[in-house]
Amino acid sequence: MKQLTLSLLALTLSLAGQAENVFVNTPKTTLMLSVDEGHAPRIAYYGARLRPEEARQVYDAGALGGEAYPAFGRNSFGETALSVTHADGNMTTELAATGWRREGDVTIVSLKDRKYNFYVDLCYRSNDRSDVIETWTVLRNGEKKAVRMEQYASGVMPIRQEGAWLTHFHGDWGHEAEMTEEPLRDGLKTIVDYDGVRTGMNDRAEVMISLDGKPRENSGRVIGAALCWTGNYRLSIETRGRHCHTLLAGIDGLHTTYTLKSGESFTTPTLALTYSQEGKGGVSRAFHRWGRSGQLHNGTALREILLNSWEGVYMDVNQEVCEKMMDGISALGGELFVVDDGWFGRKYRRTRDDKALGDWVTDTVKLPRGIPALVKAAEDRGLKFGIWIEPEMTNSESELYEAHPDWVVAHPARELSKGRGGTQLVLDLSNPKVQDFVVGIVDRLMKENPTLHYIKWDCNMSMQNFGSSYLTADHQSHLFVDYHLGLRSALERIRKAYPDLVIQLCSSGGGRVNWGALPYFDEFWVSDDTDAQQRLFIQWGTSHFFPTMAMAQHVSASPNHQTGRVIPLKFRFDVAMTGRLGMEMKPSDLNEKELDYAKKAVAFYKEIRPVVQLGDLYRLLSPYENKGFCSEMFVSEDKSEAVFFCYKFENYIGLDAPRWHMAGLDPDASYRLNEFGATERHSGFEGKTFTGRFLMETGIEARMNGQFASRVIRLQKIDN
Ligand code: GLA
Repeated sequence: MKQLTLSLLALTLSLAGQAENVFVNTPKTTLMLSVDEGHAPRIAYYGARLRPEEARQVYDAGALGGEAYPAFGRNSFGETALSVTHADGNMTTELAATGWRREGDVTIVSLKDRKYNFYVDLCYRSNDRSDVIETWTVLRNGEKKAVRMEQYASGVMPIRQEGAWLTHFHGDWGHEAEMTEEPLRDGLKTIVDYDGVRTGMNDRAEVMISLDGKPRENSGRVIGAALCWTGNYRLSIETRGRHCHTLLAGIDGLHTTYTLKSGESFTTPTLALTYSQEGKGGVSRAFHRWGRSGQLHNGTALREILLNSWEGVYMDVNQEVCEKMMDGISALGGELFVVDDGWFGRKYRRTRDDKALGDWVTDTVKLPRGIPALVKAAEDRGLKFGIWIEPEMTNSESELYEAHPDWVVAHPARELSKGRGGTQLVLDLSNPKVQDFVVGIVDRLMKENPTLHYIKWDCNMSMQNFGSSYLTADHQSHLFVDYHLGLRSALERIRKAYPDLVIQLCSSGGGRVNWGALPYFDEFWVSDDTDAQQRLFIQWGTSHFFPTMAMAQHVSASPNHQTGRVIPLKFRFDVAMTGRLGMEMKPSDLNEKELDYAKKAVAFYKEIRPVVQLGDLYRLLSPYENKGFCSEMFVSEDKSEAVFFCYKFENYIGLDAPRWHMAGLDPDASYRLNEFGATERHSGFEGKTFTGRFLMETGIEARMNGQFASRVIRLQKIDN
């Protein structure tokens, strides 16, 4: 029976001699491998779903595909996935397939070096809930002595298409996920991050490759790829003869030679791939669905509306100011209060950012009754409670560092280079004792405060002092990898013990946004930049791969603390409402009119929350188009509900709003429109009904006056 199911799942046909066609399917896509025992396996096809009998056409059409895992040393002309030095010093590897098999939803193609006992399993996970295929590689040393691996990619994707374009994301603190779209020209394009810890801060490990020229949002064929790894990575796209591209992705090998002792094996991180015929938006929706169906922690639960204390009071937290902020957010209808940095430290008090990381004891000068009193105060107001920690870090001015100087990432022969505040240091998570310490921070907080609901897990420094007191001299080059394996192990233990604890991933803002982290986190802080205009760009880029339910978007004070820009409250709310809404200010700084508006906005958000957080995102007009406008909408899976957002962030005479064409609706259904926060001048759509077809094909003309105008329209399907 099992055999029958497997053969139905993966139909194999004998074609081209002994080669077998191995199918890895999702509902709308197929990846087809050509596996010929004794030869290097090839990826013959990746695209729209193929019927088994159509496999022949791939070859009849003359498609060459490309090697599934090219190794260095023999017939390797370009970039290689694998480069190892064998036990006898031979630097060449020649891999040939020895067979393939299925284990559940994973297809495994086994390879072995023709002469050496070095084994490689290429793994591909099919998926019946979203169109994402996961691929990774297991490397095993069966030789008598150690083998050194210099390159060990997760996966490879050959692409044959002239005129392909690349979309990728880069930036820095306060301007994460900036989007660049460029044609792929001959040569090598590499995207790397060497931060060591915050490897989403500068370049992001996700790319889209558009096959039909300049990328479009809702049409055209696009391949999306995301490397799920929190450490240093390298994505490369090698283009030859304009139309032959090879995408390779994996852990970056620079300073990261990894030794496998005899009998040891290594599993690479996962490379997640999708193919869409619905433009970049289709790739995004596939990744979002993949997240909601398991890759994001607790991906089906609605996220709560919170107030975070950071921009309100920074490190000046105390019982009184926190209670005042709690009063504020509870009156507005919020659900959670989070105390940010500044609550801890005994010998060294966290009054500035140069002290006390690692000393996770309450600063009793600021909070004489401790964290339990804050939890109680929140709960008395009907709020849940959350707290900030930065568990992977310490300061040289801390009791922790005094007790364990050998726990930091550093080489003892060198003077320390220090980070934030001039004293920050990274703890060495390759050391199991440090992993225990990190898990212990959460354990102690949970023991002391069993109803603690939320943790903001921050991480504010790169790995500056390369070296580990834990790793042996001949394993120092494992640090960039073993740090992250240690982090993952700690997070797994925390998740096992506290599956319901909501944990936010933060790293100087969006410095660690990556699918390798999100199985352990419910959400992430998109950026420390809360300026609503700049957020339009940052959120636009971030939403290409990450679900909006996980994107923490906070309304902050005006003038904005990062840019000094003055933006009306409605615009700030409308920008924050496209993700997980929160606030990051003292509500008491709002006047009565603003408080009244904020209360209504929170209530409205609760109504649209299911469709924003669990629906499908359609990006409509990009802020990168330089038109001074931006628009996107969300549609529930059954297409009965939708919500449309548009923004105007430039202002000059003659800048008229475009006609807004919606997307994702049921063309035959009728929808009633209701606008939130409409001004009298703009109440034109209230209660009117349109068919989905009209809204998508003809569209509406939502006028917008002045700078920072925004409109939010809710659509509800009605019975015809
Ligand atoms: C980082 C975070 C901020 C805040 C501060 C606290 O910068 O991104 O949101 O938590 O740390 O020090």
